[in-house]
Amino acid sequence: MKTIKNVLIFGAGMMGKNIAFVFSSDPTLDITVYARSDKDLYNSIRENTKALIAAGALTTEELEERLKRIRFTTDLADPNIANTDLVIEAVNEDMQLKKDTFAKLEELCRPDAIFCTNSSVMSPSEISQDLKHRERFVGTHFWNPGHLIPLVEVVKSDATTDEVAEAVMDIMRRVGKKPALCKKDVPGFIANRMQHALWREAISIVEHGIADARTVDEAVKYSFGLRLPQLAPLENADMVGTELTWQIHDYILQHLEDSHRPSPLLEKLRSEGKLGFKSGEGFQKWTPEEIKKSAADLNAYLVRMLYQK
Ligand SMILES: NC(=O)c1ccc[n+]([C@@H]2O[C@H](COP(=O)([O-])OP(=O)(O)OC[C@H]3O[C@@H](n4cnc5c(N)ncnc54)[C@H](O)[C@@H]3O)[C@@H](O)[C@H]2O)c1
Repeated sequence: MKTIKNVLIFGAGMMGKNIAFVFSSDPTLDITVYARSDKDLYNSIRENTKALIAAGALTTEELEERLKRIRFTTDLADPNIANTDLVIEAVNEDMQLKKDTFAKLEELCRPDAIFCTNSSVMSPSEISQDLKHRERFVGTHFWNPGHLIPLVEVVKSDATTDEVAEAVMDIMRRVGKKPALCKKDVPGFIANRMQHALWREAISIVEHGIADARTVDEAVKYSFGLRLPQLAPLENADMVGTELTWQIHDYILQHLEDSHRPSPLLEKLRSEGKLGFKSGEGFQKWTPEEIKKSAADLNAYLVRMLYQK
């Protein structure tokens, strides 16, 4: 398997900085982050990792030690770019920008360097379609917050070799992630397909007056949501048995939402400027304090779940 030592993170936004922090957990790796401009990037990593320090999952000394191993550069002629073994691209979610970025990287990097895109939804086959070495290109979908959520979907394009996918799975395990191999390049990869099937049903329940938004969320939080981290759908189906699962599906699937378009309720909220946290109202009304608390509670919950066992 290909040895990976030099890692390049291309793009220093929210995801790029968190991904750099993740890779710094392995002291044998040299990490370079390419940023367009020289801002105080170390301080935003310090800010993002405060919850880990508060929970005792990371000490300030360990953090500073890890930050020393992350180099930021604004120079495309930096020798670490030419020498990189693996690139993770984390520029904005724009197809042309991603294609142009990889075309440039193909000129700058060795032909055997592995190219990864952190696109949330875009097809790795399409992003890589004009490259000369398509076989070394793969999707690596980190979830936000990237330094906390363990899953990374490793998405094969129509040209990715098994060897490249396995090398990427291996490095993700080395830096403490839980990689999941998505064997086909399909929209939504694995986890977002399931997540949005649930959101579609949740919105439909509100739209049809079956329950209000708060009740829908609570029905998830206090039932299957509570056990999901321990008992996921297919283990659950085996636990209750494929016979019972078949009987339930035979009765209920015909009644579930199966629209192929965004819901009319969602469309209405959007057109009325009810944009959620951004405007203070979406499916529910939100005060500035509740909005702040939601993000803080999520980070604290994730740290508790992952590090305080
Ligand atoms: N935010 C999320 O929740 C999330 C989750 C998973 C994946 N992603 C994906 O990660 C990628 C980055 O998202 P983000 O949330 O970090 O966005 P962001 O806006 O915080 O960061 C994007 C960065 O790319 C930089 N950039 C743009 N053009 C560039 C160029 N030509 N050269 C170098 N840098 C350039 C910008 O300066 C910015 O720092 C996107 O593809 C996004 O879909 C985002």
